[in-house]
Amino acid sequence: MSSNSRGAWGSRFGFVLAAAGSAVGLGHIWRFPYVTGENGGAAFVILYIACVFLIGVPILFAELSLGRHSHKNPVGAIKAIAPTGGWKYLGYLGVATGLFILSYYTLIAGWTFGYIFKTLLQNPLTFDEFSTNAPLNSLLYVVFLLMSIGVVYGGIRGGIERWSKILMPILPVILLFIIIYTLTLEGAMEGVRFYLRPDFSEITGETIMIALGQAFFANSLGMGAMITYGSYLDKKENIIAAGTTVVIFGIMISFLAGFAIFPAVFAMGKSPAEGAALVFVILPEIFEMMPGGILIGTLFFLLLAIAALTSAISLLEVPVAFLIDERKVRRKVATWLVGGVTLLFGIPSALSFGASDFFTHLPFWAGHSFFDLMDYIFGSVALPLGGMMFSIFVAWRWGMFGASKEVSLGNDKFIGIQSKVWGIILKYICPIVILLVLLNSIEVF
Ligand code: PFF
Repeated sequence: MSSNSRGAWGSRFGFVLAAAGSAVGLGHIWRFPYVTGENGGAAFVILYIACVFLIGVPILFAELSLGRHSHKNPVGAIKAIAPTGGWKYLGYLGVATGLFILSYYTLIAGWTFGYIFKTLLQNPLTFDEFSTNAPLNSLLYVVFLLMSIGVVYGGIRGGIERWSKILMPILPVILLFIIIYTLTLEGAMEGVRFYLRPDFSEITGETIMIALGQAFFANSLGMGAMITYGSYLDKKENIIAAGTTVVIFGIMISFLAGFAIFPAVFAMGKSPAEGAALVFVILPEIFEMMPGGILIGTLFFLLLAIAALTSAISLLEVPVAFLIDERKVRRKVATWLVGGVTLLFGIPSALSFGASDFFTHLPFWAGHSFFDLMDYIFGSVALPLGGMMFSIFVAWRWGMFGASKEVSLGNDKFIGIQSKVWGIILKYICPIVILLVLLNSIEVF
């Protein structure tokens, strides 16, 4: 986090970068295209954007102000307002969710890391050969986990953030290159139609749940990562402006990622509902065909790995900050502990792509994989559930007076109508909509 002595502009920019580092990651470039592909395309995209602005943004402001108010991890932030009672379990839910998401996030991040070398060295392994190779996947997993542990443990975050500031603006440029090339392929327009022309008959209760989950996942909401980041924020920084900038940058990256994938999917005659493997199956083929593809592909996977690293450290930081603040564990011990548990739960995920038949087709979950189960429970359900509870906590327990006052410290226009609208959304719309979506997805209606 930047120092406050650099002045308002400089410090807001520093925070925006850190928060954008947490938000922009695999969720935008790997997860967004695959869930969009599985859930019907354009109609899902519209639903997703609606979820981001109606539900995600108000909860982002709530998490940031909760963190800045207390300068604590999610459990500590809740205890600062509600020292007794059961609210602290909401903090525990966030801590557990962070740990479980990290366990499978690291696997995909490890693939990204492996694909840097695969692209550069023009290694001919197919995705299936790659993902079923247990020793290779374990190695990549451990390497990526150690890199994340190294950053959180050794406090070399400043360096990472400086580099991501220089490198991240290159990401949309690379995506643009890929888009321009894929649009020249025969059959690409069918992909553009899939991506941009909505067919609302595809929308089901389950689809809405997944769109909502994606809105939380991509913006690092619902588990307290933004509470933890908000806890480092200076009082004079503008939560509204900073938060909105992060969200809009993220939507732009996701939108471009979809545009880079779907025209290519259709041009190659593949299915958009490929699942978690989508990006890793489609893009390498594009890089093979496209002029300068080795360089562009290598750079793409390198940047994606860095984006994944800045997100993974925020996932890791939540349970680590909890252990340090609340359980008085030393940072080094806490980081290794969380890393160990992550690895334990990561193993079945790593075996979910064909290496183990059991974990690839769980008999008790309609033959879906262990990985899909984790991503569904934690990525799609636990984050909105946590977000719903955070909105109730801020609006009803802390109260809109205290929350709005916190926001207005860095934004003196945030009184009157703006804070009233925010209050209504947090008090009524977020809890009711999320509850209905959760109930609907388990077919209560
Ligand atoms: N937002 C990250 C991404 O899109 O890759 C993932 C993530 C980070 C989710 C932190 C949740 C979180 F708390």
